[in-house]
Amino acid sequence: MKKSRILTGIKPTGKLTLGNYLGVLKHLPETQDEGEPFIFIADLHALTLPIDPEELRQNSIDIAAFYLAAGLDPNKSTLFLQSSVSAHAELNAIMQNYLYMGELSRMTQFKDKTTKMNDSAIGLGIFAYPVLMACDIILYDANIVPVGEDQVQHVELTRDLVKRFNNRYGNILVMPEAKLRKVGARIMSLSDPTKKMSKSDPKGDIFLKDDMKTVRKKIMSAVTDLGSEVKYDPVNKPGISNLLAIYASTKDISIEEAEKEFVGYRYGDFKKAVADAVCADLEAFQARYQHIIDTKEYEKVLKDGAIKARKVANETLKRVQNAVGLLTYEE
Ligand code: TYM
Repeated sequence: MKKSRILTGIKPTGKLTLGNYLGVLKHLPETQDEGEPFIFIADLHALTLPIDPEELRQNSIDIAAFYLAAGLDPNKSTLFLQSSVSAHAELNAIMQNYLYMGELSRMTQFKDKTTKMNDSAIGLGIFAYPVLMACDIILYDANIVPVGEDQVQHVELTRDLVKRFNNRYGNILVMPEAKLRKVGARIMSLSDPTKKMSKSDPKGDIFLKDDMKTVRKKIMSAVTDLGSEVKYDPVNKPGISNLLAIYASTKDISIEEAEKEFVGYRYGDFKKAVADAVCADLEAFQARYQHIIDTKEYEKVLKDGAIKARKVANETLKRVQNAVGLLTYEE
């Protein structure tokens, strides 16, 4: 049987949060046993909103180091920078003709990110963002795309594109599917558990580079709910449910198992246990991250990864070029 192709990426903007970590990053190494992972830094996507060049460089290095610190093994996974593989931009030039303005304007991430912006300040890139994201997925013939809940709509759009393209040209593209964690696919803000934890919200978010004192303080002051029982009930107890999800995902157990551990606990003691678990995990993660930064291990990994990624991506690109009628004479 053909091995699964797994693909995912993280955009190097803002500071990575515990949401990014528990939703995707921490669990990526498990995918190495399921198939062939292509894991990248979505640096071209980072340009869709204004960003300082030095910040972009540093964030990109950080994500590479985070991938390695999470336990991705460069012998099993291909790690690369999106901008190192020109096929992403080339395929984008083709695929932008197969997705439509109406579909793109319905994307909730586009709406969320631009509602407060004036039209004259909204770049074309942020509107067309899902086209490039679809190309990221398509290029590697990925069938599994591990993401958090907020990216599902983009993967669904990629599926629409694949269907449309294959209907017209034959069986050229592989149909991808979003893969969400049972627990942790949508980690909420600690200060407002009805809102997603996000890179652009400094309050109530745990950042992967926060020191342990700050992490503990943020968890201990997380908003909780009325009542006193530690129970998973996202509608009536969003705060406690979010902390339970954080705990379960950190410990890699189910919500039911987590609930059982805290029967009879008071909120304060429960929060302390959550803080202990998160701090133990993040402290070890940060030590590995620092070692990788100090040794610059990521440089060779990204160089080698780009070579492997280019090979696979260029093959798909050629298949698409042939299908649509572009001449592809060998050099
Ligand atoms: P990004 O960089 O915003 O987020 C990286 C990953 O983290 C997930 N995530 C969360 N998961 C759980 N709880 C949260 N609060 C939370 N916040 C974020 C995201 O769902 C994502 O999986 N467009 C993508 C990057 C990208 C991509 C791709 C992903 C570009 N091309 C192709 C997959 C396939 C993004 O901006 O993710």
